[in-house]
Amino acid sequence: MLSPLKLLLVAGARPNFIKIAPVIHAIWANNAACNGNGRLIDCCLVHTGQHYDSAMSDVFFRELGIPSPNHDLEVGSGSHASQTANIMRAFEPVCIHEKPDWVVVVGDVNSTMACTLVAAKLGIPVAHIEAGLRSFDRDMPEEINRLVTDALADLLLTPSADGDENLRREGIPEAKIRRVGNVMIDSLIAQIEVAEAIGTLQRLGLEPGRYVYVTLHRPSNVDIRENLEVIIRELSSLSEHWPIVFPIHPRTRQRMVAFGLSFDAQPGIRPLEPLGYLDSLNLTRHARFLLTDSGGLQEESTYFRTPCLTLRPNTERPVTLTIGSNRLTSVATLRADITQLLAEHSRLGQTPPLWDGHTAGRIVDELLINARQ
Ligand code: UD1
Repeated sequence: MLSPLKLLLVAGARPNFIKIAPVIHAIWANNAACNGNGRLIDCCLVHTGQHYDSAMSDVFFRELGIPSPNHDLEVGSGSHASQTANIMRAFEPVCIHEKPDWVVVVGDVNSTMACTLVAAKLGIPVAHIEAGLRSFDRDMPEEINRLVTDALADLLLTPSADGDENLRREGIPEAKIRRVGNVMIDSLIAQIEVAEAIGTLQRLGLEPGRYVYVTLHRPSNVDIRENLEVIIRELSSLSEHWPIVFPIHPRTRQRMVAFGLSFDAQPGIRPLEPLGYLDSLNLTRHARFLLTDSGGLQEESTYFRTPCLTLRPNTERPVTLTIGSNRLTSVATLRADITQLLAEHSRLGQTPPLWDGHTAGRIVDELLINARQ
């Protein structure tokens, strides 16, 4: 009988929690189905503490049924270099103590790259969930994180065919690449009925199809004063006809305060604290459209076929453009793009392949099959 396969799962920031939850649940399902056959999985969860506010972290653990982490590194915020270094320094002794068969990382945040570097240098195999995505824009910190993580990882679990292609082009051996599908959609499918029951729209006094859902936090949009000013001006004008719900990320709030900007004079705009996962799902499902720079919301809106304008020059998730309901916009074209979108159908696009709610099961199978004996 084989000893249990030991996994060290890493999560650090809001989008990571949504991706790690289904993997944990699939591990539990594997263990429940083992019955003496198959191999048990021993799973140890590490929270790096990159996101630490209750609204950015605890609420996701609660809503998504994620157990308390076995290790909480509590690294907090900092410059890219200091945050990455602090995560590495704190993660190394955990790896040495736990001796996992795999370190499993998700997505493209600083925690993803930092923990991959540590494991690779210790000779511990790394599996990367959501491998192969590329925006081809190295001005984005996440693109650097993706490139480094994928160059070092031993098992690259991709969501879509474009991911496989990107990895091949970078010379990653075919044997390391496995297309498993979109794990974020596993969480969505698992939670959609629970979400519907919490009555987000009623609580916020919104009607389905009669409001716009906005989230913005990328440095390229919120750290540049001129861009943030134009965005706020355009939202103010839109809010004369459409109620706007805008949960504000801590980075965006800090920048608005620093630049002396506010929504005080715009009664049509509802600035809110960051929302939990279930509220966000409901708002995405029922909005007339989304304006966002989030990677996850491009995917969740595609699943619901809700039109989405992504305020970025590129996306690492091209299937949301080719198959889904997403299109890119810019500060310069925002007004025209909104006008065009409002003239179109309120449901757009289709659901891409392997967005089926079973990705985490496929991930667990690959971790078992590809483990070093
Ligand atoms: C990070 C990720 C980004 C992801 C986003 C999701 C990187 C490089 N960026 O960006 O890919 O889309 O998370 O939200 O990893 N802060 C708080 N409370 C918190 C966390 C952060 O107030 O719980 C504030 C801090 O002042 C911090 C700032 O927000 O300096 C930015 O946080 P940080 O984790 O550095 O990057 P995000 O912009 O959240």
